[in-house]
Amino acid sequence: MTSKTHLAFASTAVGVTSVIEIPTPSPGPGEVMVNVAYSAVIPLDTYMTDYGRLIHGEYPVVLGFNLSGVVEAVGSGVDGLQTGYKVCAFATIPDDFITAFYTLFDCLELPPPMFTISALTSHAETPILVYGAGATSGQYAVQLLSLAGYRRDCNRSLGAAHDMAKKILLAAGESIQFVLDCISAEGMLKSISSIVNSNGIVAMLLPVTEGSRHIAGKDVNPFPDSVKLVGAKTLAQNEYLRDNLMPNILPRLLEEDIIQPNRVCLFDQGSFQDRCQGALDVVRNGQVNGEKNLVKVASM
Ligand SMILES: NC(=O)c1ccc[n+]([C@@H]2O[C@H](COP(=O)([O-])OP(=O)(O)OC[C@H]3O[C@@H](n4cnc5c(N)ncnc54)[C@H](OP(=O)(O)O)[C@@H]3O)[C@@H](O)[C@H]2O)c1
Repeated sequence: MTSKTHLAFASTAVGVTSVIEIPTPSPGPGEVMVNVAYSAVIPLDTYMTDYGRLIHGEYPVVLGFNLSGVVEAVGSGVDGLQTGYKVCAFATIPDDFITAFYTLFDCLELPPPMFTISALTSHAETPILVYGAGATSGQYAVQLLSLAGYRRDCNRSLGAAHDMAKKILLAAGESIQFVLDCISAEGMLKSISSIVNSNGIVAMLLPVTEGSRHIAGKDVNPFPDSVKLVGAKTLAQNEYLRDNLMPNILPRLLEEDIIQPNRVCLFDQGSFQDRCQGALDVVRNGQVNGEKNLVKVASM
């Protein structure tokens, strides 16, 4: 630890956030210290601030682990990273892209993309429901399905929610075998259960919500026992993907314009507190509109 300090946006009690001054750590073995340029505010930040999730009563908790920046110091035993390298940590593209990838091709066990134009998949014509295709994770899921050779028009806006199940069934022409639910709203789960195949697979991004309330998934399972239900994980057990998807495959897909990141809403005006609070409020109030909310933390 050095005697240096820096400012951080933190949750200081349930529902309370503010900018605080904290000691700047020196990186330990296997660690690097990153000077943060941008940080994305994601739904998980609101679960932590507003519900105390993952905090276990130990305040303050610094927010903004979804970040990009420049390596400022390198601890012992670190290979492949040097001072001055631009890096991202659990940042918006990797987080949601990796989640979508694992959920589709690991949890739902769909054949993955081979990243070749001629690739055809065994489920090319199977209707697959991506509910919440406007969410960041949903946008990556739709792109990945298309890359993997799924031919059905899965990127369709079906309008208002009240007769959504009927509309989905009409569009699909048959009951749904595979579902990726990026929103996991309790009411919508019930609708989906009415159109899913009796031996279908449903992957949900957690937590399940009802309005602004979060509910344990097991308490709100409206599906028959024959339907396989999986709560999606960002990191899966597949060793090859764990070692290659984020560090190698994703950067190539972005460089070659094969995967498009979603739009960004940048909070770069006003004080640090204003920028962080503004971005958090947009996510907290459900005002996100297909964009990722990015806070400018520091000029590099
Ligand atoms: N490991 C994991 O399990 C994991 C990983 C990443 C994310 N997640 C979770 O997945 C969820 C989505 O995350 P994200 O980052 O993809 O979210 P996001 O980008 O912040 O999602 C916002 C979008 O969701 C859409 N949306 C909101 N409510 C909706 C509803 N009731 N029906 C349909 N669409 C709705 C809106 O699209 P329109 O603007 O088109 O209306 C909005 O633009 C969050 O709960 C997050 O915590 C879980």
